[in-house]
Amino acid sequence: MTVTRKRKSLKRAGENRVRFLVNGNRVDLGIGEEEHQVGYSETLAETLRERLGLTGTKVTCDNGACGTCTVLMDGKAVLSCMTLTVECGGKNITTIEGLRHPETGALDPIQQAFIDEGAFQCGFCTPGIIMSAKALLLENGAPTEHEVKEALSGNFCRCITHYQVVRAVLAAAPGGK
Ligand code: FES
Ligand code: FES
Repeated sequence: MTVTRKRKSLKRAGENRVRFLVNGNRVDLGIGEEEHQVGYSETLAETLRERLGLTGTKVTCDNGACGTCTVLMDGKAVLSCMTLTVECGGKNITTIEGLRHPETGALDPIQQAFIDEGAFQCGFCTPGIIMSAKALLLENGAPTEHEVKEALSGNFCRCITHYQVVRAVLAAAPGGK
C-alpha cells in the first residue's frame, strides 16, 4: 500500500494516535503534520533516533539496502528505515539499547560475543548486525555457519568484519557447541 493510500485508510479508520512499546516502554504519539506529531511518512528509524533519542539505531542508505537500521519488531528483524511509524501500532520494538539486562545492565550474550571476538572495527554497522543476529538466535538457538551467513546477508560492513561476526554469532548461540 502506498503512503497516500495508507494515510487515507488510517484517516478513514479515525486513527489519530499510534501506540507501541520500545524496549518495554510505552510510546504514545499523535499522528498529524504538526512538528510534535508523527507524520504519515515518518519512518520508525526517524522516530527512534529523532523523537526518542535512541541513536544506537543507525541509518546509512535510508532505502532498505544496507541493514544498518535493523531493529526487532515482535522478535523479527525489520528495517526501520523502511517501516512507517504509523504502522507500528501494538507492536513491540526492540533496539540495540534494549538488549542489555533491564535490572543488572549486563550485556546480552550476543553483544558480549561481539566484544570477545573483535567483531567490529568502526562499529557503525554493528547495532544492525547484532539485531539481525539476535532475531536469528531467537528463532534458531543452534544455527549452522551457513544459516548465520544467510541471516546476515542483508547487513553490510564496510570494515570487512564478516568472518569475526560469524564467529561471534556461533559463539553466542545458546544451543551451539
Ligand atoms: S539504512 Fe535502512 S537498510 Fe540502510
Ligand atoms: S565495523 Fe565498520 S562498517 Fe562494520
